[in-house]
Amino acid sequence: MAETTYAKGLEGVVAAESEICRIDGEQGKLYYLGYSIEDLARYSDFEETTYLLLYGRLPNRDEMEIFSKRMRASRDLAPEILDMVRNFPKDAHPMELLQSVISYLSGYIQHRIQHSATCNCRDTLHQVVQLASVVAAWQRFRESKDYIQPRQDLSHGANFLYMMRGQEPDEYEGKVMDTCLVLHAEHGFNASTFTARVVASTLSTCYSSISAAIGSLYGSLHGGANEKAMAMVEEIGSKDRAADWVNRALDNKQKVMGMGHRVYKAKDPRAIIMEEFLAELSKRKADTRSYDILKIVEKTFRDRMEEKGKPIYPNVDFFSGAVYDLLGIPKILFTPIFAVSRVSGWLAHILEQRRDNRLYRPKSLYVGTQPREWVTMEKR
Ligand code: COA
Repeated sequence: MAETTYAKGLEGVVAAESEICRIDGEQGKLYYLGYSIEDLARYSDFEETTYLLLYGRLPNRDEMEIFSKRMRASRDLAPEILDMVRNFPKDAHPMELLQSVISYLSGYIQHRIQHSATCNCRDTLHQVVQLASVVAAWQRFRESKDYIQPRQDLSHGANFLYMMRGQEPDEYEGKVMDTCLVLHAEHGFNASTFTARVVASTLSTCYSSISAAIGSLYGSLHGGANEKAMAMVEEIGSKDRAADWVNRALDNKQKVMGMGHRVYKAKDPRAIIMEEFLAELSKRKADTRSYDILKIVEKTFRDRMEEKGKPIYPNVDFFSGAVYDLLGIPKILFTPIFAVSRVSGWLAHILEQRRDNRLYRPKSLYVGTQPREWVTMEKR
């Protein structure tokens, strides 16, 4: 029996071995199965990255074709799911909808508990693909518009934009959206991925694991920072107010959203790619307002932190909200889009957990009352 240790929030605790993701926080490097995030962003797309995560290797041409066809054929939502999306309480958050839809999908396909450590494509792809369609449909219904049938000739990201807007995005927008999904697909033992693995370790279904992971991502300490970064841009309003805003925020000991990271002590490599997208999209759309504001926020923040000897850099959320905004995506969809992408990573971890399973069962340090005598109702 190992010696008992206590680490609040499991900080610094190694809970399992994993071959999926490597993060080098000091150097600002991120790899999925050994492939750098820069190469994945440049050469891959969300479907191929999903294949890589699920099977642990890159597909050859035939494998990719079959996998891509399967993914694209799973895009359309059944009438029962559409009814659920349409009739979901109007004030509910779309993350609550996603969590419920995943559970419903499980029952709808009469899924039986299936503990296989290999990828069961029908079930796994069902979830990966349909989350995007559900988010797009929810947004359409919210705007009192009709559901848009998916297209099979578009990438996963471009099809999502098409289903949400009802118009095909241009090639660059489609590429940006799809690559944003690649960038968010995996990130080691974060809270939602760990949640998925804990549920998987009980030999529950992958649907229950994913639904629990969505619940974990919903919390503002995990998903949601990009939404707050975009809200900050809106509050600042124009670039000439940005420096004062940051100085005031720091004087008031307020957090500047999208800056800093628990793991990265150099610039988050995903933020570098996001920034390139934001710069280019801003130019193409002749709207540099958000980008200009963010660059001043970044510079002012970093100058202030460097004065204190604390180099702190932007994380992926700093620029991604403004990218989504330029793609016409409302803030409330930012966290659901994170789920649309991260579901591939969650599934990869569920399958890995099943390959060498051990039930997660940490202990707590009891700090409650020592054993005491029962007090009858009359004497309390
Ligand atoms: N705004 C203001 N101050 C910040 C900051 C931010 N975004 N990020 C870090 N700091 C401060 C910390 O409060 C700490 O100050 P202190 O030394 O006076 O206590 C110092 O800089 C060093 O912080 P560090 O240890 O590097 O970071 P952390 O591990 O404590 O925090 C985060 C990491 C992500 C929680 C933090 O950077 C943060 O809250 N960022 C904003 C939220 C966000 O973008 N989250 C998404 C993460 S992907």
